[in-house]
Amino acid sequence: MELKKGTLLSSIRMETMAAEGKCVAHYDGRVLFTTGCAPGDVADVELTKIKSNFLEGKAVNIIELSPDRDEPFCMHFGLCGGCSWQHIQYRTQLTYKHQQVIDNLERIGGLELPPVNAIIGSARQSRYRNRLDFTFTASRWMTREELDAGGTMGQPGLGFHIPKMYDRVFNVETCHLMDTPVDKLRNLVRDTAVKNDIPFFDLRRQVGYLRTLTIRMTQAGEMMVILQVAYDEPQWLEIILDTITANFPEARSVNYIINGKRNDTFHDLNIITWKGDSWITEKMERPDGKGQLNFRIGPKSFYQTNSLQAEVLYKEAWKMAGLTGSELVYDLYTGTGTIANYIAADCKKVIGLEYVAAAVEDAKVNAQLNGNLNTDFYAGDMKDLLSESFILEHGKPDVIITDPPRAGMHEDVVKMLLRIAAEKIVYISCNPATQARDLKWLSESYRIAAVQPVDMFPQTMHVENIVLLTRK
Ligand SMILES: C[S@@+](CC[C@H](N)C(=O)[O-])C[C@H]1O[C@@H](n2cnc3c(N)ncnc32)[C@H](O)[C@@H]1O
Repeated sequence: MELKKGTLLSSIRMETMAAEGKCVAHYDGRVLFTTGCAPGDVADVELTKIKSNFLEGKAVNIIELSPDRDEPFCMHFGLCGGCSWQHIQYRTQLTYKHQQVIDNLERIGGLELPPVNAIIGSARQSRYRNRLDFTFTASRWMTREELDAGGTMGQPGLGFHIPKMYDRVFNVETCHLMDTPVDKLRNLVRDTAVKNDIPFFDLRRQVGYLRTLTIRMTQAGEMMVILQVAYDEPQWLEIILDTITANFPEARSVNYIINGKRNDTFHDLNIITWKGDSWITEKMERPDGKGQLNFRIGPKSFYQTNSLQAEVLYKEAWKMAGLTGSELVYDLYTGTGTIANYIAADCKKVIGLEYVAAAVEDAKVNAQLNGNLNTDFYAGDMKDLLSESFILEHGKPDVIITDPPRAGMHEDVVKMLLRIAAEKIVYISCNPATQARDLKWLSESYRIAAVQPVDMFPQTMHVENIVLLTRK
């Protein structure tokens, strides 16, 4: 049969899961990647792409359901890009994530691995996030069912972008990623804006007023709210922000931003606090179990999105670092200094380096809050900040902990790590593919002593991984 776009392949058994969350099968000697199914399913597949060495398609008819399937729990499943693995049992998700780490390290990194530790699952498999960013839209996405039921286009909405569609937002009624007050707060903001004729932003035409709503929440239930609007209109701000403060006493930090830019990023914008403090405070058990640490989180600061599992992640990194009390440690990509403050009691000194100046200010406050006088924090781009002169001034580290963003480390940073030649490097990553690339470079002078995958993001294809490197 000649294969072309639209060709229907019948009864294909899905063998496994690829890194991007597509199922993998084989047809005609080629690998076939399929969306809309689960590993173990047997499905009819309509081809969408034909290449000499691989095929792509979508499942149009599931003939046999995999025993590894689960019932999706969210009404927005299929439309939302957030929890795209809900239809796969959690223990099977963990198996694929574990394999994803091994595949990346072996295939991309070409690395020799010790036995990879069993992946540590998340105690919470829903409502595990501490932050969500919702987008206002003047014309929300309408599903086929809504249109069939008489719904009309041009309705305002507040929700998430549809994957890969920057200007398409669907209205979120319920989201299982954060605790329930978040659903109530978001829906109340939307209803209040509609009732008072406050214009929602039109993403295509770039007109309108309400742009985004960010909600962050600590484990104790303290909330931070950040409302982004397109221009200053005090009357409308008052209606929305006073409604929040009147109905949610747990919203301890209520803020707004005036953003006239074409995009919604706010790292470069002024944040104005309407009510309460400009921060919330998260607590975390000390690694030795002797009391708690306090972390102040500002609106622009990064904090691991799964707070409960962050403790597990940090504890594993702490164990790998094996600190004795005498070490100088560098904590690269320190954010609000969470790891630096977590390990400070167990080493001589920690130096945290981070790009976002506001996060560095939070890191310094966090050091004070926790009585960690042996910490220092510096702001700047890692590739410029981590230099020969920095090492001369601050000393050569015995241990480096590095926790870069998804893109991994800049090549110059990796080269610098090779020049510094610390005895140990603990590399935490939320993207095993870029981690594998960086490890390949580092393997010139380091061997991999331990690998520990940790699941921070249940119901998604994402996995966190910690690698301990020791000098050859
Ligand atoms: C994955 S977060 C880790 C934060 C922190 N280690 C934690 O656990 O909370 C990555 C951090 O790297 C910072 N970052 C991103 N690019 C950077 C760069 N080029 N130079 C320095 N820091 C950077 C981000 O602002 C963010 O705080």
